[in-house]
Amino acid sequence: MDKKWWKEGVVYQVYPRSFKDSNNDGIGDICGVTEKLDYLKYLGVDIIWLSPIFKSPNDDNGYDISDYRDIMDEFGSMEDFKILLDTAHKKGFKLILDLVVNHTSDEHEWFKKSVKRIEPYTDYYIWRDVQNNWESHFSGTAWDYNEERGQYYLHLFTKKQPDLNWENPLVRQEVYDIMNFWFDIGIDGFRMDTVNMYSKVPGFPSMEKEGLSLATPYFLNGPRIHEYLHGMYVNSLCKYDVMSVGEAPQVDPEMALLYVGKDRQELNMIIHFDHMFADDPPEGAGKWERRPTDLNKVRDVFVKWQKGLAKDGWNCLYMSNHDQPRQASRFANDQYKNGATMLATMLHTLKGTPFIYQGEELGMKNAYFKNEWDYRDVETINSIAENKVKGIPFEALRENLGKYSRDNARTPMHWDNSMYMGFSQAPTWIGINENCRDINVEAQTADADSVLNYYKKLIALRKTHDVLIYGDFEEIELGEDLFCYTRTLNDKKAYILLNLACNQTKVTLPDTFDITAPCIISNCNITIKKEMNLPPYFATVLLSDG
Ligand code: GLC
Ligand code: CA
Repeated sequence: MDKKWWKEGVVYQVYPRSFKDSNNDGIGDICGVTEKLDYLKYLGVDIIWLSPIFKSPNDDNGYDISDYRDIMDEFGSMEDFKILLDTAHKKGFKLILDLVVNHTSDEHEWFKKSVKRIEPYTDYYIWRDVQNNWESHFSGTAWDYNEERGQYYLHLFTKKQPDLNWENPLVRQEVYDIMNFWFDIGIDGFRMDTVNMYSKVPGFPSMEKEGLSLATPYFLNGPRIHEYLHGMYVNSLCKYDVMSVGEAPQVDPEMALLYVGKDRQELNMIIHFDHMFADDPPEGAGKWERRPTDLNKVRDVFVKWQKGLAKDGWNCLYMSNHDQPRQASRFANDQYKNGATMLATMLHTLKGTPFIYQGEELGMKNAYFKNEWDYRDVETINSIAENKVKGIPFEALRENLGKYSRDNARTPMHWDNSMYMGFSQAPTWIGINENCRDINVEAQTADADSVLNYYKKLIALRKTHDVLIYGDFEEIELGEDLFCYTRTLNDKKAYILLNLACNQTKVTLPDTFDITAPCIISNCNITIKKEMNLPPYFATVLLSDG
């Protein structure tokens, strides 16, 4: 058993802009995070991941960095960060930051100098005399013409996020230096943004349009990606006891092993997107259209990944983050209690490290914004504008944006039910989620039966029972709408049974499922029988001690 702290811990993602505002300017900040460490201690999580806190003009809420060694003005100062880090460490947390180095902000010094061809920055970015037909993730072409330099530069995201030229060894050295700078300050790792986009196919071929909205074959998992990641490992990661988790769309378990396999010397984990496609739109549909979520598909994806990484890898388990709608809404029909706790049971009993996104532990729902002016997210705003040009009015997008815009998860954290939900005492940078004012930390702390206290219990169970961390996974196939599996470590065996449907589901349990084993957690107080009807979104974990 290859024990590691990042396998045993539970990660809690803080989106600082929306977590806690300490100085009442309506924007969350670093001192706010420090203030709330005791809450995270109460919950029991171990590793705090902060979405970007670095200097940024905030075109993409900090994912556009203009100085990697300094703190965004709105979030506070380096001194505030050091206090947070020190306090977090004293309270027993690990703290990881977001490394965004596929691109910088166009306001970064490197870009400004690159525009002017000042050495050594001339080739820090991807400059071309002609553009190809690649599109940006956030609407429109992926190239922008810079008058001053007289060339186009590549930007896979907004035009204020120029892609770095990783082919240039000086760029790679800059990245190692940034990583080491933060490790020397004492952070415990990085979540690495768009980690499989660094290497592009040389020659930047235009894509053959059919069926593709993005030129992904040319910029995902590119020809030199493993060389680059190994370089990060050798020049930085391996020198510290740190955690690395890379965001990597369009990777299957086999490819994942090339990133996280034990002997690969690259990353610890990747954040894959396979289950995020469970509600993928029908072919030819618009960007914001989705099918209703099918949790059976999600189950199959998780099983595939459990098996694929069983021997030589480690899973990252998540269903929501700052880029995705709220999981209780998307995957559990807004069922505050059983829906949210069933999903949580799954994420905390599969093999891997669970990632909680702030507010998820309360069962927060989508904001379901209705008006164009409610939106803050650049992806959403650009898309609304692009559609207007095509003659598609906002009204036609209203419903789907209301469900799938990234802003659904970016509204302020609900601490209590005062005017600004205890997040701030001033009008907030983005609207409050009016759909779930009754869902808040204060109310749920006091309610033994709340989603919050269920999460607390799940997290504690993982700490008491090694089998939930290191135990082997095996599925017991029961068919439509059911997810059943065991985790086995030496003579201990955990049995997990989940009803994926928002209706009752009939189950017949095989002998391999020991119904006599004691229940260690369940979201409904019923006794398991061989044949029975499971309540909607039922979840239970039984544990036999051998
Ligand atoms: C990642 C981030 C997302 C950001 C994008 C560009 O997907 O999670 O928030 O917009 O990268 O940096
Ligand atoms: Ca503030």
